[in-house]
Amino acid sequence: MANDKIAVIGAGNVGAAAAQMLADRDLGDIVLLDIVKGLAQGKALDISQIGGIWPRHFRLAGTTEWERTADSKIVIVTCGLPRKAGMSRDDLLVKNVQIVREVSRNIAKYCPAAVIIVVCNPLDAMVYAAAKVTGFAREKVIGMAGALDCARFNYFLGCELGVSSEEITSVLMGGHGDDMVPLARFTSVSGIPITELLDEQKISSIIERTRKGGIEIVNLLGHSAYYAPAAGVVKMTEAILKDSKTIVPCCAYCENEYDVGGYYIGVPAILGKNGVERVLELRLTSSERTQFDKSLKHVRELAAKIEEILERIMPS
Ligand code: LAC
Repeated sequence: MANDKIAVIGAGNVGAAAAQMLADRDLGDIVLLDIVKGLAQGKALDISQIGGIWPRHFRLAGTTEWERTADSKIVIVTCGLPRKAGMSRDDLLVKNVQIVREVSRNIAKYCPAAVIIVVCNPLDAMVYAAAKVTGFAREKVIGMAGALDCARFNYFLGCELGVSSEEITSVLMGGHGDDMVPLARFTSVSGIPITELLDEQKISSIIERTRKGGIEIVNLLGHSAYYAPAAGVVKMTEAILKDSKTIVPCCAYCENEYDVGGYYIGVPAILGKNGVERVLELRLTSSERTQFDKSLKHVRELAAKIEEILERIMPS
């Protein structure tokens, strides 16, 4: 039986970090693709040489050619401009939708059965664009944001409580922006609700730091984060390849779910071999629902802009 094949599109910071983590976890053969000549090849060679120190079972190849990605089970889309200091994620929309459109056409051509995991920003809008251009089934187009935002939430909570963040499980909904909705009510440490361990004010300040977790790093580095985003996408890839039915908050298609009405937005989802196996519907309080609706409004506005841009550059 052939090895599982994973394509990573874009050999920038997130793409290269994801390729390295995928190789470290021995998840399958990896093809790293970038349009910049030499970039993916050079990084793939460098990462492959770790195999001379730590054992690796699968191959990693760098390329500029889409043919090499043919029949990948999972395609991870990391290409696109990253955020720089002073930019919001939405500032990237016009440029990145053109990149995602080009990439999506190639995915549809070379990897028609793949599950796509989009990582570039503005996340929810880019997932919408990838779904629209590929025409792939709803469960096959997913965005990575919740895994990262939950990782940040869990890390900050772990630091505050003096426990390993691994002990913490959390749920976070909404778009990948400042109005994301971390849900303290569904967050626990080894089964103990955090509301039993921390007061409301402390939880609120950690929620606020989580919402601004991306910009905190942009302000320090001058560009956006990549190690934890890469780990987020590798977690999702592993769940899909191993059909582990892991619950991961991610950007998934919702129609009747949460009355979203046909958009891609952050929700808790079960990931397995088909991609999104099911969106979990939680009963939200009215305050949680209000926060989710605010985020949904923003996601819908960005999707409308995507429709407008795609119509302009890709009339039907
Ligand atoms: C962040 C970027 C990757 O949240 O969106 O760090």
